[in-house]
Amino acid sequence: MENKYLKLDQLREEAKLGGGSDKIVSQHAKGKLTARERISLLVDEGSFQEIDMFVKHRSTDFGLEQQKFLGDGVVTGFARINKRPVAIFSQDFTVLGGSLSEAHAEKICKIMDTALKIGVPVIGLNDSGGARIQEGVVSLGGYADIFLKNTLASGVVPQISAILGPCAGGAVYSPAITDFIFMVRNTSHMFVTGPNVVKTVTHEEVSFEDLGGAETHSVKSGVAHFSFDSELEVLDNLRKLIDFLPLNWKDTPPEVNFDFSEDLLRPELDTLMPDNPNKPYDMHNVLKQILDSGDFLEVHKHYAQNLIVGFGRVGGMPVGVVANQPAILAGVLDINASVKGARFVRFCDAFNIPLLVMEDVPGFLPGTAQEWNGIIRHGSKLLFAFCEATVPKVTVITRKAYGGAYDVMNSKHVRGDFNFAWPSAEIAVMGPKGAVEIIFKKEIASAENHEEKLNQLLNDYIDKFANPYIAAERGYVDEVIKPSETRQKIIGAFQLLKTKVDNNPKKKHCNIPL
Ligand code: HXC
Repeated sequence: MENKYLKLDQLREEAKLGGGSDKIVSQHAKGKLTARERISLLVDEGSFQEIDMFVKHRSTDFGLEQQKFLGDGVVTGFARINKRPVAIFSQDFTVLGGSLSEAHAEKICKIMDTALKIGVPVIGLNDSGGARIQEGVVSLGGYADIFLKNTLASGVVPQISAILGPCAGGAVYSPAITDFIFMVRNTSHMFVTGPNVVKTVTHEEVSFEDLGGAETHSVKSGVAHFSFDSELEVLDNLRKLIDFLPLNWKDTPPEVNFDFSEDLLRPELDTLMPDNPNKPYDMHNVLKQILDSGDFLEVHKHYAQNLIVGFGRVGGMPVGVVANQPAILAGVLDINASVKGARFVRFCDAFNIPLLVMEDVPGFLPGTAQEWNGIIRHGSKLLFAFCEATVPKVTVITRKAYGGAYDVMNSKHVRGDFNFAWPSAEIAVMGPKGAVEIIFKKEIASAENHEEKLNQLLNDYIDKFANPYIAAERGYVDEVIKPSETRQKIIGAFQLLKTKVDNNPKKKHCNIPL
């Protein structure tokens, strides 16, 4: 019997070496960790339960029969992050470049199937040269199997991808279907076609990093939701993200203990708003005051910064924050911000995470670039997302709420549950100047002193409309509150909404304007 145990130990040791010591050295030399090192940094110590450690590929073409490695280039299993279960796969670049074979794909699909049955998030640590070229269409089929599983799992369990090396060709579409993508600066790359193909087809010279590095995807394309300088930071922040998420769509987001005797008033907020309504302020400063301990995990931090989205807690309860940022483009909604917001709102709604909306929006961004690129199509995504969301939804209008953007940003009309406004709120069809110039065009033109007339009409308009009280008269704003009371009011609202039940009409699925 002892020999049998010895054999098992030897096989385990062999599997742990992946592609071998030389390849591990070379992986480290590239500034990358191995598949197993990544898992051990990500999960609670000793919690990883590996499966399919001894799986090998079955290919016999192009000399592959001579290159069999236990595990076949992906480590899969289940573990705990801060005591909560997750399913994990971690591609092993030391084995044939982490390329995806039929067997490799089967391992990933297997943990996804189990994750769906037991209702736990799936985390993919990607580091792969793509489809295993020697296996041809079988490998492509493996990818398609994963894409299908990703799609069917969408909205059932959270799916998170970390790109920690190459991720090219059609392989990018698995992470793209998942809910969040993390990338590392300088070592991770995502593109549909690499620099060489780009050069052949479009004659553009572009580096790997410029084409599909973390900076590109977190600032320009919005493909990456998080980007960091090192794998360690990626794994650390991935743990933080998991802490905000329920395990599956039937679960509730993890609450932490909260001391309700805390003084919830934030007098600092009463002096935050500039007297001049056209002066910017940083919405992050408001979030710092109203979220528990000021903690905020920002999603898409570097992309479409005119809209802030991310996770925080109020009264111990996780919330998804969607906030206009008056410090960037005056907080206007444009195509990128609308798509960013819509995807985030839909994620939160799918996973029972209440929404907190902080609103200061002058409207949608004008211009041919926006119109020709489909601001109508894209802006409607955000509207659609807020309309269909049935989770608890709380809005605070801090200043501007103009035009269609007023409706979009979780107004009462689209089922906002508690809509608060600060006394500085201006709720109107458009900004005072634009409004007066349209409705009093003739009066201004025929006045002896145009400037004087304009100013007089402007002041009348501001007195009448640039405030929250007309909306409050109608009940479109539930309560006008002092800024200092905001934390107290939103905690109260979300506590009340804990038992909220709301449903949409039954259907096969909706048809969000894509
Ligand atoms: C088989 C592969 C491989 C692949 C890498 N390797 N990619 N083996 N299939 N797709 C092997 C290499 O032969 C090498 O083996 C080892 O992995 C490490 O690769 P290196 O090239 O030495 O590493 P590096 O210099 O870091 O370059 C990494 C790389 C490069 C940029 C990923 O290997 C590369 O360009 N690979 C091909 C990428 C590609 O075109 N994939 C197909 C994409 S299309 P040895 O034995 O020498 O160590 C695709 C379609 C998916 O994936 C479609 C889904 C619908």
